[in-house]
Amino acid sequence: MLGGVLTATAAQAGEVEVLHWWTSGGEAKAVASLKATLEKKGDTWKDFAVAGGGGDSAMTVLKSRVLSGNAPAAAQIKGPSIQEWAQEGVLADITPVATAEKWDSVLPKVVADVMKYKGKYVAAPVNVHRVNWLWMSTDAMKKAGVTKAPTTWDEFFATAEKFKKAGIIPLAHGGQDWQDFTTFEDVLLGVGGPDFYKKTMVKPEAASLNSPTMIKVLETYRKIKPYTDKNAPGRDWNLATQMVIKGEAGMQFMGDWAKGEFLAANKAPGKDFLCAPAPGTTKDFTFNVDSFAFFKLKDAAKIKAQNDLAQAIMAPEFQETFNLLKGSIPVRLNMDLSKFDSCAKDSSRDFVATSKTGTLLPSVAHGMALSSAAAGAVKDVVSQYWNNDSLSAADAAKRIATAAMTQ
Ligand code: BGC
Repeated sequence: MLGGVLTATAAQAGEVEVLHWWTSGGEAKAVASLKATLEKKGDTWKDFAVAGGGGDSAMTVLKSRVLSGNAPAAAQIKGPSIQEWAQEGVLADITPVATAEKWDSVLPKVVADVMKYKGKYVAAPVNVHRVNWLWMSTDAMKKAGVTKAPTTWDEFFATAEKFKKAGIIPLAHGGQDWQDFTTFEDVLLGVGGPDFYKKTMVKPEAASLNSPTMIKVLETYRKIKPYTDKNAPGRDWNLATQMVIKGEAGMQFMGDWAKGEFLAANKAPGKDFLCAPAPGTTKDFTFNVDSFAFFKLKDAAKIKAQNDLAQAIMAPEFQETFNLLKGSIPVRLNMDLSKFDSCAKDSSRDFVATSKTGTLLPSVAHGMALSSAAAGAVKDVVSQYWNNDSLSAADAAKRIATAAMTQ
């Protein structure tokens, strides 16, 4: 009898191999909560973690795995890339789970549309990260006599000077192309405004790309670099966040996965650190929705486990647990946010408000806008410009224009 029960359980249990790049302190806690949720359903989690913030390395590894006919059950894939993978015919249709769980009525339509290919769900969203944040150390602020977060770029440079005079590194930065671009899109939005952002980064137009505003953006961006330290090249984003956590640096531009690091270090918002919209972007929201796309599988037990994962990701309890750890907000609508902190509550309020004013914008640095080829090309140019002072703003603008129009 016992043997029979065990066999039945074994036959139902399936393994789900999940590719992700969540390896920093806060990220690891968040992904552990997903693993635990899946295991509660009797399935087995096979971890396929590829380190590297922003996911570039993970995407390279994923391509080679899929090409060799050995795709994982699920992979962290976002934005327009979901459509690119679906066009290859390798993604599974998980619409039956989505229909049973009523995803259409609990997801913002803009998000649901990204998860679907030709009307069928092929991916499930986990969260909404806000990218245009500035993080500040309250210890460093006290030492430097800084009393508030800068709200304009002029104020930002004045604040950076104060940190510098106090012997504190003004800006923690990691010189990797996605981090360079995370800062760049903040400057582009703050200096150029939301319409300019749309005309250069969402539906790029030559006239806006080759404009005096773009030159101003590039010049402002270049002025930031002297406020970073000489060890910035190649530094991982979470190590940059650690500098702010320790008060060695005053500020960091980063999406709210940085908050996951502050929380994992037992730091509290408003007390140990501040979250403020990047200068000039208070009324705007650059979004980054993490999601898992599902690959076609043959084995019935594995398909069941894959469906379990899809169901688990969108369940309200998981959306709460995961996002409390990850620094993001639930993507599921109408969730109770009473356990969330002030940064998350601000984010949620602004997500709703900006979706009505047309200032809710997809982050290019995090794969939410442009094709992956165009996004890769603009990131390359911006990092070349950041690293090479002899490349003029005018030449960089021309190269960005060509890159953004890549098909
Ligand atoms: C992802 C986040 C992740 C961050 C750093 C972003 O692109 O959306 O989930 O924490 O990269 O790795």
